[in-house]
Amino acid sequence: MPAYKQMGSIPIKRHIKHERDTGESFLNQGLYYEHVTTMAGFDQGYSISYHLRPPTRVKEINSFGEIDLSCRETALRPHHIQTQQLERSGESILGRVPLFKNNDILVSRAQPDKQQQHIYRNAGATEIIFITQGSGHIESMFGTLPYKQYDYIVIPQGTAYLIKSNKIEDESHLIIETPSLVQLPQRYLNPQGQLKLGAPFYERDIHGPSEALCVDQDEECTILCKQDTLINEIIMAHHPFDVVGWDGVVYPYTINALDFEPITGTVHQPPPIHQFFEASGFVVCTFVPRHLDLHKQAIKVPYAHSNVQMDELLYYVDGNFSSRKGISSGSVTMHPRGLTHGPHPGTITKSESETFVNELAVMIDTVQPLQLCEAALSIADPNYPVSWMENS
Ligand SMILES: [Fe+2]
Repeated sequence: MPAYKQMGSIPIKRHIKHERDTGESFLNQGLYYEHVTTMAGFDQGYSISYHLRPPTRVKEINSFGEIDLSCRETALRPHHIQTQQLERSGESILGRVPLFKNNDILVSRAQPDKQQQHIYRNAGATEIIFITQGSGHIESMFGTLPYKQYDYIVIPQGTAYLIKSNKIEDESHLIIETPSLVQLPQRYLNPQGQLKLGAPFYERDIHGPSEALCVDQDEECTILCKQDTLINEIIMAHHPFDVVGWDGVVYPYTINALDFEPITGTVHQPPPIHQFFEASGFVVCTFVPRHLDLHKQAIKVPYAHSNVQMDELLYYVDGNFSSRKGISSGSVTMHPRGLTHGPHPGTITKSESETFVNELAVMIDTVQPLQLCEAALSIADPNYPVSWMENS
């Protein structure tokens, strides 16, 4: 969870009357309407917000559509999904293309060509949106949250939001959805809950909404709400972003990949030093531009490795990927348990004289095996499994 934050007008204690200056309100009770948002029942982080109108005023609920998350069983093999071949299409949310999933995670890509039309809420998952390219802001009842290239945007489960891009034709996202809490790695925190001095980022790198947003609009407003594969249309009697103030630790926030301070050594450092987030069933790591190992005889690309109890998904964002060939920005590789993988032939020698690696990549290691979504099949590289042969 990010640090405690408060914005706008809130009363001196929780669950006491928050009286309006005018003495009147929507129901002539003279109050703002309190709303608590809690994680994991009532036992984890929460925020309390104060609305102009009761946040419960649902007029109508309809079925809107369904998302195809069907998967294809394949023989045990690594995959290279060439998402740079995806056509730009759809809205920021409804245009997402699912790539891999298991019960803990769904990973998608989006390259929209239309602004998001309706407010959206994911009922079943926290979302991490990685901004490969693009900029703009996200509106929610917590206010306006600016975002830029290489930001991770973390949207707490159940938060209604609207992405407003500065230039929709520039937007490119990787999206992680999970039913579990998304947290900063516990080992980065001191007993007081503060990020330790040795952690690769700290509180100043984490940005919550920059300004309050209080939309006073007593007209119907549609929220599209995702529930597993179903999209529901919830018609509210008023605009839901009508909050005069809130406080707590549940709110959308950004943290930029390039604010991560890389840890380097004289010899190769293993992937846990790149960890960014932890969640139930997976971790997210970020490989950022960094100095290479300093030992005179250092091998400057990773070990060949058997990821015995994890599947490994790697999204190549930008730069030169020194340990791989045939990979470019937008590539997503998945290496399942049961197969050993590592640097491509020739990359050990090629990297000998290098002192710096200018790469940016997002890695997701999952405890449960990943399944390949049907939508990713048409952009899969059929020759990838044999690309470690010297003559490939
Ligand atoms: Fe690996």
